[in-house]
Amino acid sequence: MTLNLAVLASGRGSNFQAIAQAIASKQLDAKISCLISNNPQADALTIAQQHQISCHTLPHQNLKNDEHENQILQILRTYPVDLIVLAGYMRIVGDHLLKSFANRIVNIHPSLLPAFPGLHAQQQAVAHGVKISGCTVHFVDAGCDTGPIIAQVAVPVLDDDDEKKLSERILLEEHKLYVKVLQAFSKNKIKLVGRKVYLECHHEAKL
Ligand code: GRF
Repeated sequence: MTLNLAVLASGRGSNFQAIAQAIASKQLDAKISCLISNNPQADALTIAQQHQISCHTLPHQNLKNDEHENQILQILRTYPVDLIVLAGYMRIVGDHLLKSFANRIVNIHPSLLPAFPGLHAQQQAVAHGVKISGCTVHFVDAGCDTGPIIAQVAVPVLDDDDEKKLSERILLEEHKLYVKVLQAFSKNKIKLVGRKVYLECHHEAKL
């Protein structure tokens, strides 16, 4: 059975694009049912059109969080959706979405969580002087980047790194990691037990 994804994005959309391209090249057995953005200027909307993916703009200004999420849910209900994929979605997910899609919302974050949650994770890593950072795909819970960790990739922090240089190198890994994790979902190989995520140990599913 095909894994149906709904992607929520607020900006550039490079992770969304990587996922769409992986589907087009049959590297990922999934379908993107729709893209929803809270930002009418998001490049992700253009990418959706290029890939002929249904897209919706739902600005959040002047709305309470649960009103905004109600609108999102109304749209999601018109599509088959197995998993919500946050790809640079710059909003905290609230109760409404979390309850309707319990353990079915994932996010990617540009650090090795639990280090450096929140905004400017790469800048935080450079400023702290860590030698290794990376990216994390995790289930979304009510906190900010606190949900159960699904998979991580380490990226060395180089002596002359600034936020931009480190972000670029981490982003390359993000694109690969997100596709691999989604492929594992599509093969039903991700199991969540408490805070721990297990990946069934078939060789090809190794992340
Ligand atoms: C990525 O670095 C992602 O980890 C973070 O926001 C950024 C989104 O980039 N959550 P893009 O919109 O996917 O290009």
